[in-house]
Amino acid sequence: MKPFLESDFVNQMKDITSQAYNHNWDERNGGNISLRIDSKDLSNYSDVSTIIRNIKIGFDAREVIGQYYLVTGTGKYFRNISSFPERDLGLVQIAKDGKSVDLLWGFTDGGQPTSEFPAHLMTHCKLQKNNSDKRCVMHCHPTNLIAMSFTLPLQEKKFSQILWRMQAESIVVFPEGVGIIPYMTPGTNEIGRATADKLTRYKIVLWPHHGAFAVGSDLDETFGLIETVEKAASIYSIIKMHGGRMINSINDNNLIELSKRFSVQPNKEFL
Ligand code: 13P
Ligand code: ZN
Repeated sequence: MKPFLESDFVNQMKDITSQAYNHNWDERNGGNISLRIDSKDLSNYSDVSTIIRNIKIGFDAREVIGQYYLVTGTGKYFRNISSFPERDLGLVQIAKDGKSVDLLWGFTDGGQPTSEFPAHLMTHCKLQKNNSDKRCVMHCHPTNLIAMSFTLPLQEKKFSQILWRMQAESIVVFPEGVGIIPYMTPGTNEIGRATADKLTRYKIVLWPHHGAFAVGSDLDETFGLIETVEKAASIYSIIKMHGGRMINSINDNNLIELSKRFSVQPNKEFL
């Protein structure tokens, strides 16, 4: 038995939040992450079986009663998580009433889960209902992707086609394309519902003028997805800075060949 602080879960969270901060995706308290953990994977730790306190979550998470999530705290800075993991992260279990969580580890300064926890949990609910292997939900503020949301029509087909054409890797990593919701107020149940709904068809959703919301099987995969989308967005931004006129491009045929070579099924509505 060892303390949860020494677990791979906490170590991965420390690593990914630092990397995300270093990528400029998480200024101040921007961004949040939740990771679903199975009860069997918690049995090795000495300090996660007692309820420290109960925290209300402001919506009904009955579908996932009893599930465990390691989640970033609201108002916490990604820049600081690797130095203060026990303060800035919390391990919570959805309580029997479905409207609160039991804190089992972390949030040592009285902290609470991210204000985007409704969006995270609604997404986890949908993923778990579909028996998805995706356990990680990550939200952050990638600069170039946000910039694109000011200058392009907020159309999934248009955005996805542009991002696919910016580099050969894009269509292989996100063949479904990118989902887009209308601009909505962060931290609300409404943005949560709209996002969770989109994430049944896409792995990543653009929150216009705000950021990205993505899912993956683990922290690494989810990070890699955001990194790939943001890389494509940054190439687009640089092309625009160079005057915007492209004399060469990745064409539809190239995208079809890429999809065949890497055995992915691109979104039929977009290609
Ligand atoms: P939290 O500090 O509550 O996680 O909020 C950050 C954020 O990015 C809101 O969209
Ligand atoms: Zn945000």
